[in-house]
This record gives sequence, structure tokens and C-alpha cells, in this order.
Amino acid sequence: MLRRSLAAAFLLPALLAFGVAPAGAQAPYPNRPITVVVPFAAGGPTDTVTRLVAEAMGRDLNTSVVVENVGGAGGTLGAARVAQARPDGYTLLLHHIGMGTTPSLYRRLSYDAVGGFAPVGLVTEVPMTIIARKDIPAGNLAELVALVRQQREKLNYANAGIGAASHLCGLLFQKAADAPMTTVPYRGTGPAMTDLIGGTVDVMCDQTTNTTEQIRAGAVKVFAVTTPQRLPSLPDVPTTAEAGLPGMEVTIWHALYAPKGTPEAIVNRLSAALQAALRDQRLAARFADLGTAPVAQERATPAAAQAFWQADIAKWRPVIEAAGQYAD
Ligand code: MLT
Repeated sequence: MLRRSLAAAFLLPALLAFGVAPAGAQAPYPNRPITVVVPFAAGGPTDTVTRLVAEAMGRDLNTSVVVENVGGAGGTLGAARVAQARPDGYTLLLHHIGMGTTPSLYRRLSYDAVGGFAPVGLVTEVPMTIIARKDIPAGNLAELVALVRQQREKLNYANAGIGAASHLCGLLFQKAADAPMTTVPYRGTGPAMTDLIGGTVDVMCDQTTNTTEQIRAGAVKVFAVTTPQRLPSLPDVPTTAEAGLPGMEVTIWHALYAPKGTPEAIVNRLSAALQAALRDQRLAARFADLGTAPVAQERATPAAAQAFWQADIAKWRPVIEAAGQYAD
């Protein structure tokens, strides 16, 4: 009897240390830090949203939620890292609209871009802004369009790779201007913003979560917000329709994912923590200051995120196939 309980006393911690728990003795979740992968560089819009969400989720989960930036290849490197991670709830992905475009844009991927993930919940939908280096010789959107038509590829355009939000918005803008610019790809629009401020790139279309503070500081020139209404956070900035490009409206949705195969109870616990984070007044205030808002609670669920994500894949597939332009 004594021998059995001594063995149990030594064996159980050893098993738990290796992440193995005997049947009926599963360790409570979470019992160690959780990593959320951002598939873009630090300092950009996905990173900003993720750090706010991670901190607030950590309070609810009573553990650290650590952000890891795995940028490159339009977000596919970071997504691959999570799709191929152990489905134990300790490696998550916070990604944006790229989850809707990647399955059609990239025909050769090292991971399953549709079936490789278990959605946890939607997070936010972020407006975009058309911006440029502050000394660009254009005072409004019509003048910027005229400049792009005149200079064409002499002007360059920063984006975060094929399928990134800045790539999609840039395509819409060049289509509206009916003139191409030279693309300069980055691992994320955080570093692209540094170059725009420094004047080594000319134009960018990026989310308000990256651009609001630089616009307010006068570090970049802003031409329009891509929403039907003006934003309370940037009240003096015209909408694309007001500035002469009606129909160029785009917002960027974000969601949280676990790897496919993560136990349902863990996905549901994460969804509850996400909902708690999105109810957090500090998070909501910071989101508002950056021109965005948390989604409604019922959208921060696995079912709502799955439905929205699949509908977005279905929406983009014919558009990308008709354009015949792929990343690989
Ligand atoms: C994008 O263009 O997709 C984003 O700005 C990526 C990022 O978070 O850097």
C-alpha cells in the first residue's frame, strides 16, 4: 500500500512534467503559458490587436499569453507554424482576412489552409486608411490618383506580402486609379510604416490599428478611410466615397484559431476567455482609440468564426480565380 502510494507520488509529477497525464488525472487547462503566433512582424496592426487581446485573455485564463511574431510569405509561415503545432491549446494563431484569401491565392502550401485549424472566435473588424509619405506632392485623394497615373511604377507601394490586407487594399486602390505602382513587400506593415515615415517608400494602405497614431502625429499623410462613414477616431479624414473613390470600401476581419484536433473543451475555454477579453473596458477603449471595436460576444465563438471564415473563402475564391493571379 505504502509502496503503491510512494510510486504514485513520484510517478505522477514525472508524467505531468512530460505533458502526459494518466487517464482520469488530466492536468487542468491551462497550467503553463500559452503562445499566440502573429503571422506578421512586430509593431504592425495584427501584432497590436494580438497583444491587447493576449494580455486581457491572460487575465481571464490566469496564465501568461505570450505573443510570437512569425512573419513572412503573406502570413503563411506563421499560419503553418500553428497548423503543425501540437493541438493542446498552448499554440494559437491570431490572423486576419488572409485566412480567407490564402486557400485560393497559394496553391502549394506546407499545411492545410482550410482544414488545419479549429476557429476559437472572431475578434475585430478594422477599417483601413490610404496613406503616403508626408512630403508626397498630393493634397487630396484625387491628386494622389493623378500622381499615380502620371508616375506609375516610379512610385512604390509598401505591403505585407501577397494576401496581406495591405496587398488587397493596394490592389483595389491601383485598380481604382487604373495605374500600377511598384510593390515593395515586407514581413508586416510595422517595418513598412518605419520606411514610409522615413520616406523610402511612397504609398501604403493599412489598418487604422497601425496608422492612427502616425496620422495624428503628422508622420504620414492621410487621404481617406475605407469605410462608408467617417471614424470618430479620425474625424477630419474623408471616406473614400467623399474623396472620390465610391465603392472602395474594405474592413479587415481578425479571428483566433487553435490547431485542428484541439479538444473541444479547450477551444470552448479559449472562446470564453476571448469573450472576457473583448468585454474588457481597457481593451475596448484602446480599440476605439485605434479606430476599431471588439466584435459582439456571440461572434467570438467557434461556430460564428467557422461560418464567417468559410463564407470568406467562398467569397474570395471566384475573385482570385477570375483574376488568375496566384502567389506561387
Ligand atoms: C497586412 O497588411 O496584412 C497587415 O498590415 C499585416 C501586419 O500585421 O503587419
